[in-house]
Amino acid sequence: MNHDDILFGILGNAFHCPAPGEFEFLENALITINVEGEILGVAKPSEYNNSPIVEFLECQGRILRLTDQQYLIPGLVDLHCHAPQWPQMGKGLDLPLYNWLENYTFPLEARYQDLDFAQHVYRDLVQSTLSSGTTSAVYFSSIHLEPSKVLADLCLEKGQRAFIGKVCMDNPEHCPDYYRQSAQKSLYETEAFYQYVSGMVGNDGLVSPVVTPRFIPSCTEGLLKELGQFATENECYVQTHCSESDWTREYSCQKYGETDISIYERTGLLGRKTILAHSIFLTERDTQKIQEHGAIIAHCPLSNMYFANAALGTREILDRGLHCGLGSDVAASVTPSMLRSCFDAVSHSRVREEGTSARLASDVRGEPGTRISFLEAFWLATAGGGKALDKPIGLFQKGFWFDAVLVDGNIQDCDLKIWKALDEPSDILEKIITTAHRQNITKVWVKGKEVISKNR
Ligand code: GUN
Ligand code: FE
Repeated sequence: MNHDDILFGILGNAFHCPAPGEFEFLENALITINVEGEILGVAKPSEYNNSPIVEFLECQGRILRLTDQQYLIPGLVDLHCHAPQWPQMGKGLDLPLYNWLENYTFPLEARYQDLDFAQHVYRDLVQSTLSSGTTSAVYFSSIHLEPSKVLADLCLEKGQRAFIGKVCMDNPEHCPDYYRQSAQKSLYETEAFYQYVSGMVGNDGLVSPVVTPRFIPSCTEGLLKELGQFATENECYVQTHCSESDWTREYSCQKYGETDISIYERTGLLGRKTILAHSIFLTERDTQKIQEHGAIIAHCPLSNMYFANAALGTREILDRGLHCGLGSDVAASVTPSMLRSCFDAVSHSRVREEGTSARLASDVRGEPGTRISFLEAFWLATAGGGKALDKPIGLFQKGFWFDAVLVDGNIQDCDLKIWKALDEPSDILEKIITTAHRQNITKVWVKGKEVISKNR
């Protein structure tokens, strides 16, 4: 390796999950990064000890030495987040989905035509998600074009990898008059947003446009078809909600006599770059179609526990090798933290496995063998999310982009306590997943660029 190719190096302990359920502890590794933000190499002490590389980087002030309480983990991927709902987080979760949307979400989202409001909220949101370790975020914005551009500009400015969609809603049956566009305007603004993001100066693939029909009840069939055609012609990402509750499943069944997946497929919206939030009530044929198209499921565990009426078959999805990752689904979640999502995904699967009713005998109470592990959840939030999006992220591996989060256990007044004499590497990683909070995250990099640095 030519030393001049190295922009900087990090020397210390790192964790990643190369496969679901497996982890690697990269002890005292030297990770080198080039000017493009790609990982040039991950060297073990035995590989760099006899080389002048560390001294070379040290002389030039281009090395970061981690303390023995600091650990690097891959940047976290949030596959489903509603940007305009940021001020709504923590409100109204006692309501069912339909009323939650009507009473809280739609009135709030309608306010984003005020660009100053959009700037103010989105700046805080992007800062907060980055600060929580989310290096890649898939965002729904509102139905408005200009505020969606504001969100794209802010992600670019702050250096967050983002996939952003201007939301499309044209069905008067389920969209209020004050928060609805015609199919024609929805399509026109989707195209305009696509052009805007594709042409943003300095973008270089950091921010991508996403075609975003909100969900089946909010769109007419005509709009779905137009959006499907646009996405197909432009090989564009698509995001939507899929079979997320009894109500939405029954709606599709009654109106179309079909499942959501069948409708999305028929209208050209189901492809390799389609991100399907939730996808709880899938038929066997739906699952096959998702797999055939290589579409992506965004599992949003906390949101599911409040709104879905049932649990996702996460175990089966992992076993079948479907593309899947985790989503916060802010504001159907109370934090943007993807580590918390990992924890919720495990809890969700554990409750499913064990069942809940104490009146039932244990052998009929739950669904045996359906739990997922912390390592599987962490894989979903890192390498799994990266694989689903078809981006080289989520692993510390040569050729991957350096998206990383520095977790520090030596922070006052926090829950992450690492006891060197008691904790094995597997314990340490589990503790990071389950007990690390935002205050433990002291630096974040996206594609080699330091985007968060908190001085402690
Ligand atoms: N379904 C349609 N819109 C939404 C939304 O904003 N949040 C959630 N959780 N589900 C939805
Ligand atoms: Fe959602």
